Amino acid sequence: MKTLIKNAQIVNEGTIFKGDVFIEGDCIVEIADSISAKTSDTKIIEAEGKYLLPGLIDDQVHFREPGLTHKANIETESRAAVAGGITSFIEMPNTVPQATTIDKLEEKFTRASETSWANYSFMFGGTNDNLDEILKVDANKVAGLKLFLGSSTGNMLVDNPEVLEEIFSKTNLLISVHCEDEKTIQDNLKKYLEEYGDDIPIKMHPKIRSEEACYLSSSKAIELAKKTGARLHVFHLSTEIETHLFSNKLPLSEKKITSEVCVHHLWFTEEDYKTKGTKIKWNPAVKTQKDKDGLWKALLNDNIDVFATDHAPHTLEEKNNVYTKAPSGGPLVQHALVALLEMHHKGRISLEKIVEKSAHNPAILFQIKDRGFIKEGYKADLVLVDLMKPWTVNKENIYYKCGWSPFEGTTFKSRISHTFVNGVLAYENFKFPNRTIGERLTFNR
Ligand code: DOR
Repeated sequence: MKTLIKNAQIVNEGTIFKGDVFIEGDCIVEIADSISAKTSDTKIIEAEGKYLLPGLIDDQVHFREPGLTHKANIETESRAAVAGGITSFIEMPNTVPQATTIDKLEEKFTRASETSWANYSFMFGGTNDNLDEILKVDANKVAGLKLFLGSSTGNMLVDNPEVLEEIFSKTNLLISVHCEDEKTIQDNLKKYLEEYGDDIPIKMHPKIRSEEACYLSSSKAIELAKKTGARLHVFHLSTEIETHLFSNKLPLSEKKITSEVCVHHLWFTEEDYKTKGTKIKWNPAVKTQKDKDGLWKALLNDNIDVFATDHAPHTLEEKNNVYTKAPSGGPLVQHALVALLEMHHKGRISLEKIVEKSAHNPAILFQIKDRGFIKEGYKADLVLVDLMKPWTVNKENIYYKCGWSPFEGTTFKSRISHTFVNGVLAYENFKFPNRTIGERLTFNR
């Protein structure tokens, strides 16, 4: 299998240069100003005017398998991810059963090896009582440990302070955390329940899952990481104030405390609850314009290290419930890159920075082997984008199993024309020419 991509604007490691990329088997074998096809069986892709990016690595997705497959499964969502330019993902443990034992975790790896279109790894789930099992997880084989320090879908709250300190002190795994202070949330919720009953107006969501809840919880997690020397990665920052808890003083590979921001917190604000309702109910909540601006600032000044989706599909039927019954989360993997490219068109972020935050940095942060860069010898996980080919998100072009998107009706200027996974063309202009099977991510640890 040989493919030659000709005349692309190659976006990699802070620069954009015009050139050709030759793929053989699953690897990038040559990058040069001009390469000619050496054999007649080489497939040539003319990419004049298009941009070639390393495939995105999404470090936080919920693909719902096993147990919640009426919402989604690894096959459907990884296919949508590939259509969205995401070629590797790290999936979360709040499935049914939860991935809180080695056996359950390995069952997820097996399932992915049979059905995933993209490359994959999983987070092991921590609980109040599985420290023994956590200590058995091999850091060379698994992306990391996930702790819900605030409750969300799947009842995985870890709220015992002694247990937390033990986990932080003893594990050598990267610890990723969902930070929202449970007591603050419950106190706020009680107040609004008294006022409205179950049908609390959705605009109160950021008052219930408040800035204070986020700040308190992430400050505590950071304090504990500093005390114990743990390697901490704080997921989905949603407030401006939290961004000041992080620093840009060290290169990413030397940081012990890192953070992530997700597409919905960079795109929506509380104003959007009026039109989108519970479709944009997420934990943590979408908050104010000031928060959104602060998150953008921190992403660009490197206080925030990576960009992700927190893709968390639920059915429309589930989402169309009253506030207290509508689950939090929404599908995002197919539209995250084009949303970022839209922000590029608006002058908010450069293409180089998009690639840094969504491909290079997840690879560096998780020490992922041979991915996340356009480099000779690296795996050919590549995305070709056309910045001037508008399209509108609608039911016909959504690939999520749940069949809806918070971006429905949005016209994006850019579209993804090709996605390669391990050298194979998985996606081309709303078609899937080859059924790729992704590989288990490996790590340089
Ligand atoms: O909104 C969310 N939904 N936040 C989470 O932390 C979990 C996710 C889910 O799994 O539904």
